Amino acid sequence: MSDASPAAVLEQALAGVVDPELRRPMLELGMLKDIRVEGATALIRVVLTTPACPLKDRIRSDIEAAVIGRVPGIQTVDITWDANVTSTRGLPGRQEIAGVRNVLAVSAGKGGVGKTTVSVNTALALSLTGARVGLLDADVYGPNVPIMMGITAQPEQGATNRISPLNAYGIKVMSFGTILKPGQPVIWRGPMLAKGLREFLYEVEWGELDYLVVDLPPGTGDVQLSLAQSVPMTGAVIVTTPQDVSLADVSRGIEMFRQVKVPVLGIVENMSGFVCSHCHQTTDIFGSGGGRELAEKYSVPFLGAVPLDPRIRLGGGDGQPLMAAAPDSAVGAVFREVATHIAGRVSQENFASASGPVMPSGPRIPLRS
Ligand SMILES: Nc1ncnc2c1ncn2[C@@H]1O[C@H](COP(=O)(O)OP(=O)(O)OP(=O)(O)O)[C@@H](O)[C@H]1O
Ligand SMILES: [Mg+2]
Repeated sequence: MSDASPAAVLEQALAGVVDPELRRPMLELGMLKDIRVEGATALIRVVLTTPACPLKDRIRSDIEAAVIGRVPGIQTVDITWDANVTSTRGLPGRQEIAGVRNVLAVSAGKGGVGKTTVSVNTALALSLTGARVGLLDADVYGPNVPIMMGITAQPEQGATNRISPLNAYGIKVMSFGTILKPGQPVIWRGPMLAKGLREFLYEVEWGELDYLVVDLPPGTGDVQLSLAQSVPMTGAVIVTTPQDVSLADVSRGIEMFRQVKVPVLGIVENMSGFVCSHCHQTTDIFGSGGGRELAEKYSVPFLGAVPLDPRIRLGGGDGQPLMAAAPDSAVGAVFREVATHIAGRVSQENFASASGPVMPSGPRIPLRS
């Protein structure tokens, strides 16, 4: 060992550092790059599977523990953080969308539970971590994304005859709402809707995206089923509210995605308690905890509980979503937590699909109680 170069000794010491999420040696996974020694400093570039990784502190301390005091002469570790989001590949019968690494569906058993709110704010939270994010409003029955994102423009034909998505808050957006005239009745049926959606997915110049969030129409009928079957989804997020935690609705949703082999990334409970802005006491107006119980019952991760907050409704109505207006608020922190859970689940699912199921796909960081 004493004959080896300092960088080789350092690399050997790093061989035991395990990714806390994927539970494999980071070196083996190609996540530790440009390993060098300069004087008493070890320099390492850490390539995460998502910029939304909340485990940087843990990874840093694991690396320091493996190196300092173990590699002769090294006193400090200098980490450069980098990310390369993994992608879902090879889903049979599903055409990949050029440049789009992951498609995430946001779904709910019924309308009005906050599907669009969760889609918009999660997309923004992912984007705030540095990820490249798109948002597709596929809810032809109630395409509310343009209103929530403050979009009034119409999409235009791009250079290559493909449609250029709109841009809001650094996110690329497409919505049925931008092509339907106000008040125009929606008479599209399943196959037609699926065709329209395919156009949005494949004819739009999305460019390079780490995550494309899709706000699906509510319910679990034929329309949703055909969308879930034809679109190459990395996974689905199911939104519910405490009072709507009708076992039947959520279990139908989970069953539908399982049937078409789309992993359920987890459950978000929305409108989970009301935090008084004066006394900061939480009142469980509709009850709470049902989402977590459901997640346990169906062995899917619980992704977070979003409280009722008037700013969510006001911001949504004004075209300034909460994650744009108040990302550092308490409820903003919840959306960031939901986004990091989702990003972590995406990394896990992509890893599992590339290498076979090697780990339990539970939540990656301790959840709020
Ligand atoms: N946590 C929350 N706190 C306060 N208001 C909320 C919250 N979540 C959603 N809302 C409000 O509730 C209404 C319904 O939310 P949203 O439009 O996101 O639901 P949806 O499931 O997409 O509904 P639809 O089925 O009509 O598409 C909106 O006015 C939204 O601003
Ligand atoms: Mg909606």
